[in-house]
Amino acid sequence: MKTRTLGPFTVSAIGLGCMPMSMGANVKPSPEQAEATVHAALDAGVTFLDTADIYAPSWDTMGHNERIVAKALKSWSGDASTITVATKGGITRGEGETWGRDGSPEYLRRALEASLTALERDVIDLYQWHRPDRSLPYGQVVEVFKGFQDEGLVKAVGISNANVEEIQVAIDVLGPGGLVSVQNEFSPKFRSSRGELEFCGENGVVFLPWSPLGGTGAGSQEVGLTYPAFTEIGRRRGVSPYQVVLAWELSLGEHVIPIPGASRPESITDSAKAADLELTAEELDEIEAQFN
Ligand SMILES: NC(=O)c1ccc[n+]([C@@H]2O[C@H](COP(=O)([O-])OP(=O)(O)OC[C@H]3O[C@@H](n4cnc5c(N)ncnc54)[C@H](OP(=O)(O)O)[C@@H]3O)[C@@H](O)[C@H]2O)c1
Repeated sequence: MKTRTLGPFTVSAIGLGCMPMSMGANVKPSPEQAEATVHAALDAGVTFLDTADIYAPSWDTMGHNERIVAKALKSWSGDASTITVATKGGITRGEGETWGRDGSPEYLRRALEASLTALERDVIDLYQWHRPDRSLPYGQVVEVFKGFQDEGLVKAVGISNANVEEIQVAIDVLGPGGLVSVQNEFSPKFRSSRGELEFCGENGVVFLPWSPLGGTGAGSQEVGLTYPAFTEIGRRRGVSPYQVVLAWELSLGEHVIPIPGASRPESITDSAKAADLELTAEELDEIEAQFN
């Protein structure tokens, strides 16, 4: 599997988005299927897993997804120390499924400690601020993440759902090389974050497209119908439209690492192959032309 650089880590060019194993439009897999899905990713050469504290079936089971990741890494036959795990904090879930955001130092420390426990780790590889808490100055919250890194609780810092102005603030606060990644929605149906994708490339920051296939449920299931060039190119190359979507995203820059979600082993086994699918200039033109 081809690799890409993610701050201090070298990871597979395709990661695994673990969210569909705990929430989303699809049917939740059994614990056995979830474990088999993570194992299928790792066996296919995926060395980068994305999770979050809020990925859980209900507000009172937060950490559900992180616990799946921890368990699957422990039971995997390979060397789990070679796997980079990213998680996120900053979104709150409370009784009655009330959702909010909290960028205060006290809340974020509690969230980080809960993630360390759920992931059974002393240090988080990549800790991402999940969504801006716009009641606080952006840079002030990034300082909190920087503090966690200075304390040795996290190896690298990322942000998510950030606009260009916020990315620039994070770069300024974290200093040279300090902001490792930006995780924003990006897919054939959601291309409006291309400005952020390009800004990251110009500034040496990795861009992690979330919901890279269009999201759980119909979004991903229908991507090849809504955008037929992916299906047509896939038919000619003997691969799935999903692989063509992910290969197109990889072609947008060496700094792009898509994290397709999966709740079935078959999905990620197929998606992982996109890392080695090189699209021709003509195929890329065909893909871009369908968006016009
Ligand atoms: N930062 C944020 O705010 C944020 C928000 C949303 C998501 N995320 C992250 O982004 C990750 C990916 O997003 P997502 O899971 O929402 O959507 P997605 O990756 O666009 O789509 C996931 C769905 O696509 C299906 N799929 C994937 N590869 C396939 C293949 N090769 N063939 C057939 N079906 C395939 C999966 O089906 P099965 O379930 O049947 O396997 C899965 O349900 C999440 O897991 C999460 O880690 C981050």
